[in-house]
Amino acid sequence: MAFNAGPLPKQAAALLTGNTKVTTYESTGGKTTAKFATHNLTLIPPIKPGSTIHDNACGAGTVSRLILQQNAGTTDIKIHATDIDQAFLDVLTADAAQNNWPVSTSNQKSESTNFPSAFFDYDIMNIGIIFMSSAGLDATREIHRTLKPGGFAIVNCWKTITWMLPIMLVHRAFRGEAVPFPAPPINWTDGTQLRKILVEAGFEEGKIRLESQEVSSVLEEGEEFRGWVEKTWAYLAGIGGWHAVDGEKWEEEVDMLAELLKKQPGTTVEGGKVTMTASQWVGVAEK
Ligand SMILES: C[S@@+](CC[C@H](N)C(=O)[O-])C[C@H]1O[C@@H](n2cnc3c(N)ncnc32)[C@H](O)[C@@H]1O
Repeated sequence: MAFNAGPLPKQAAALLTGNTKVTTYESTGGKTTAKFATHNLTLIPPIKPGSTIHDNACGAGTVSRLILQQNAGTTDIKIHATDIDQAFLDVLTADAAQNNWPVSTSNQKSESTNFPSAFFDYDIMNIGIIFMSSAGLDATREIHRTLKPGGFAIVNCWKTITWMLPIMLVHRAFRGEAVPFPAPPINWTDGTQLRKILVEAGFEEGKIRLESQEVSSVLEEGEEFRGWVEKTWAYLAGIGGWHAVDGEKWEEEVDMLAELLKKQPGTTVEGGKVTMTASQWVGVAEK
């Protein structure tokens, strides 16, 4: 994931430098995206032996790892995992080499890959499409081009994220109302855009299934919750650029985010546990 250039506060640097960026992501938002992926893999027929699979915008390989767990012992599947963030690819590449996984990684933009047409049996892009150019259309066209006839695509996007509004409120409180906090230029929250790009990319309406799903993250109130909040702030606050105040008032920013999060619709605090919800739209399309 790319972060705005700017003086990275030392507190954020400690959570984002090199491979720590990957562990920070995996222990915060990555837990939620993994839950989405686990659910979404149940929406397609079981992976056939001999399948070629694209883990598209793979991060550190959330989808690849789940497929390998679920198909343990099947040696004849091949996964091609692609992303533009080398730190994430490096973690997956190292794990694949160490464990002898049938996964090859490459640094490629999802909008334009070097795979031949009709190459994949499955193309799974887990929470990547909102980051792509032309509001996701170029990457969805590329998925359609590289899928075999009869192949399945899974593409999903956020529907609601409990922690996004609190992050924007902390941004405004400490950095000022006038400092922009860029949001995706397209509204993805009602599923319309996801269906639209699948159809425009060439998938038949009758072969697209669109649904939403909600997941929860449960954390112990206290240190575990505070740690999650700090990592989430480190990971996402850079969307609004880093500012001198962030280094000076880091602890106050994190405390405010923790307090706002507990009051946010979608959060419940009960019996020493904080539960936060997030939801997705998922489109499953057969070519
Ligand atoms: C929220 S992460 C999801 C990662 C992983 N699929 C998962 O489920 O955890 C989004 C990923 O999209 C990647 N990404 C963003 N724009 C991209 C592009 N144009 N082409 C390929 N990957 C991209 C980012 O580098 C990041 O790893």
